[in-house]
Amino acid sequence: MEPATFVLFGATGDLARRKIYPALYNLFVDGKLPQPFSAFGLGRREWTDESFQANVEQSIRQFSRRAANDEASLKSFLRAFRYHVLDIGRKEDYASLLERVQVREDELHMAPNRMFYLSVGPEYFEPIAANIQESGLGSSNGWKRLVIEKPFGHDLQSARELNRKLSQSFDEDEVFRIDHYLGKAMVQKLESLQQSNPVFQALWTNRYIANVQISAIETVGVEERAGYYDHVGAIKDMFQNHMLQMLMMAAIHLPHDSSSDKVRFKKKKVIEALSPLQKHEIGTNVIRGQYKEGNLKGKPVAGYLSEPGIPSTSMNDTFIAARLHIENNYWRGVPFYIRTGKRTNEKSTRIVIEFKDPLKPSSQADDEQIAPNLLVIDIGPRESITLRINEKDPVSGKFKAVSIPLYESQGDVPEAYENLIFDALHGDATFFAHWDEVELSWQWVQPVLDAFADNQVPLHRYAAGSYGPSASDALLAQDGYHWWFDEKIEQAETSGNPSESKGEQYAYNANH
Ligand code: BG6
Repeated sequence: MEPATFVLFGATGDLARRKIYPALYNLFVDGKLPQPFSAFGLGRREWTDESFQANVEQSIRQFSRRAANDEASLKSFLRAFRYHVLDIGRKEDYASLLERVQVREDELHMAPNRMFYLSVGPEYFEPIAANIQESGLGSSNGWKRLVIEKPFGHDLQSARELNRKLSQSFDEDEVFRIDHYLGKAMVQKLESLQQSNPVFQALWTNRYIANVQISAIETVGVEERAGYYDHVGAIKDMFQNHMLQMLMMAAIHLPHDSSSDKVRFKKKKVIEALSPLQKHEIGTNVIRGQYKEGNLKGKPVAGYLSEPGIPSTSMNDTFIAARLHIENNYWRGVPFYIRTGKRTNEKSTRIVIEFKDPLKPSSQADDEQIAPNLLVIDIGPRESITLRINEKDPVSGKFKAVSIPLYESQGDVPEAYENLIFDALHGDATFFAHWDEVELSWQWVQPVLDAFADNQVPLHRYAAGSYGPSASDALLAQDGYHWWFDEKIEQAETSGNPSESKGEQYAYNANH
């Protein structure tokens, strides 16, 4: 890997402490950092190199997935770090930073390759990018890269505006837009699962698949993020980025040679093919919810409107469920259901591929139903792939569903930020969001935002500790489906019939 200088804006912030330093440290331990490697942390606080290094050390001790037991190795890692006081708007600070970066590059005899990581609020992206360019920090004989976090804009127009401004200082292939879901090992596996296994490739179409369910639900509420969250809601916080990225990753059909450009091109094809919702269709295809007080794992929890910093009149969404259709030959007629919400009963990110109903064996009694096959991809916190099939009990002669584990993570895998920082240092943009994907995502979401703003979509209150509003269940029930979650899968395995097992009113439609 080419030598590189890592320049971190927002070095004293929470993301840096929790994710970025531990990620760099683990890359270092694995021998995956460039050699030589130099790092500059930037912030307004008057820290010295020493106090900065002490902070980095503390963050590693607190948050690294691997304990830093080897003192000598930790010290050698920390020696790469320098601190520079920088006010984002002060041009002199960029000039003095450039001098120090160059001195360090000379000391280490390294090429001036520089990666600028913006771990700061989105309002600072544009001025920082412009100042990097103007100061000369970005115009060296090496490469330059800009790594930015979400949110990329707050609607279609602001995203376009931001992109226009950034592109004055950085070319598209120099911009690495982080969506940390793309850094998750299991999301990355979606690419290889299908590409390297013809058996899955063959099944990846509307001929065999009945529906696809993508959910990312969490037990946490708004926490201390009221100021941010109450303006964005689940639709901008999770849906426009993480959920649509997972949809693209789940629905791509990859060629054998999947270079970064090809993967991103194929993802773009998926999102381009998403059917836009017309105004009158939004209310029937998008469900929005907000949690009220409830019980979570036996403990009473407050409703969203009673959370600190949330106005008691807030109409913000903490839950979104939606039905989407991809208009191409692979997926025509297959609903993709997306669901994301806070303060639900469990923390689970998973993709469930529900296959079309099996033919009924002639030996089977008329009242006996065979449950659909499922491919369950658990993205987190559990990381596994399971295939649910039906088998006949030799004694009773009855069919029952059994889950066969296909893959189970062995634990201690690199965290999303490790994967992403490593890729960015390498210049591999496969798992970063291209501008086209971001723009097309906003394009799909914008009419929904407009409908929310016009109050055309009812806000359903759901009890904290539930799986969201019942309207989200009804969305699938209209099509004869239901959300698959653990309890349901297990019960289906015992009884062979998911609808009867829970005693719920899901119309389990054997002809679907
Ligand atoms: C972040 C959102 O991007 O993703 C948070 O801003 C959310 O609201 C988080 O909690 C979920 O990420 P993960 O990796 O815990 O599923």
